[in-house]
Amino acid sequence: MITVNHVAKSFGENLVLSDIDFEINDGEVVVVIGPSGSGKSTLLRCLNGLEQPTSGTVAVDGQVISDAKVKIEKIRAKMGMVFQQFNLFPHYTVLENIVHAPMVVKHETRDVATKHAKELLRQVGLAEKN
Ligand SMILES: Nc1ncnc2c1ncn2[C@@H]1O[C@H](COP(=O)(O)OP(=O)(O)OP(=O)(O)O)[C@@H](O)[C@H]1O
Ligand SMILES: [Mg+2]
Repeated sequence: MITVNHVAKSFGENLVLSDIDFEINDGEVVVVIGPSGSGKSTLLRCLNGLEQPTSGTVAVDGQVISDAKVKIEKIRAKMGMVFQQFNLFPHYTVLENIVHAPMVVKHETRDVATKHAKELLRQVGLAEKN
């Protein structure tokens, strides 16, 4: 369960989130809708500790994530977030961007990672982007 209690977030003078209160129960599916710039991403970032609320608290399964005793990495390991921007490396080609992470994180060889990357590009109709 996620419990958001009186969360506010400002960037300088810009008050983005004001006194937000809600609970999301296990298994519940919630959609946040609003105009661009209304604070949807900021709210999500507050839920996983990528942003610190200016005031108020976020608790996950009863643990307040800003509490110094709470290991945020453990909580984040259970949370997924798809970023709006892809954060590609601008100095890499498309293929190199796909090959990089499996080589670093999973220690795949360049050959294996490249083969897999080309297959992924083919699946999404981007085979020419290598
Ligand atoms: N790190 C930051 N520093 C300063 N201002 C920020 C920062 N992050 C977000 N903002 C501002 O907070 C407001 C809300 O931005 P946010 O990205 O949360 O909106 P959003 O609802 O996700 O918009 P979109 O629909 O375009 O994704 C905007 O005015 C934005 O400029
Ligand atoms: Mg957003």
